[in-house]
Amino acid sequence: MYSRELETLYQELREIIRTERGDSTRAIAKTRPLLKEVIDRRLIQEKFLRPIGSRPAAYLVYRPPDRSFSVVSMVWGGGQKFPIHDHLSWGLIGVYQNRITEERFKRVDEGEKAGYAEIQQTGESEFEEGKILEEGLVFDELRREDIHRILNPTTRPSVSIHILASDLGMKERHQYNPEQRSVKRFVSGYDDPEGRLHGRIIAGTAEHLINEEPRAILDVRGLVCPDPAHKTGHELEEMGSSEVLEVLTDSEDSAYDEIPAVCRSSGAEFVALELPEGYWRIRTRKLSS
Ligand SMILES: [Fe+2]
Repeated sequence: MYSRELETLYQELREIIRTERGDSTRAIAKTRPLLKEVIDRRLIQEKFLRPIGSRPAAYLVYRPPDRSFSVVSMVWGGGQKFPIHDHLSWGLIGVYQNRITEERFKRVDEGEKAGYAEIQQTGESEFEEGKILEEGLVFDELRREDIHRILNPTTRPSVSIHILASDLGMKERHQYNPEQRSVKRFVSGYDDPEGRLHGRIIAGTAEHLINEEPRAILDVRGLVCPDPAHKTGHELEEMGSSEVLEVLTDSEDSAYDEIPAVCRSSGAEFVALELPEGYWRIRTRKLSS
């Protein structure tokens, strides 16, 4: 449960998002002191500050029911970094522990060729504990480019707290590879602070299905679109409304688009996890009508 200070702070954030919907400059100016308070008063629970190993951890600290914003704790092991990405909404980052480096980029091609992108680095800055930086889109006269990467330049764990005007971990955005001159879809996901999940949640709202035993496992790894979704649809038809189906797929389009679409049209709740082994696990259950 949250502390009273955090509860009040989330209420204030909800109010800012509601009233400043069309003015990100004002929204950012009002959010900044709240984030500073989170850092100065050490309001983030211990479980959101733990590194998880070979990659940075992304924990969802808070998200209101309408998912209009999110408070995310990122824990960076020594030397760890995230892929270069965009945000498609405004946001702020506060350095909660140790230090981070931000590399900023701008896109220089016209975006006319699918999957192709050229980006150029425009800056690099280091931020110490207590410092706050802006990320994402900022619509003012100093409008900045919405592409960056964060990394931990030290050998000790760093923690950054992100407040975004979106459901950061579940929003589909873009990841850039400057060497390959490529851009692809990117859903960063959320890690489980209790450490029970083997992977990150990337889609769906039925997180409770993670703790349930599936009645059937449909392993469609090796199959490509649209077969995984078709098989999922058939399997769901056969199943009762209390039974959980687990689908394993290594088809990215199936995991992100087609299987979720089949679940929705079958009246089923679902949650999708990206596993570190490079495939996806989807748990789904028909809702009783
Ligand atoms: Fe970012």
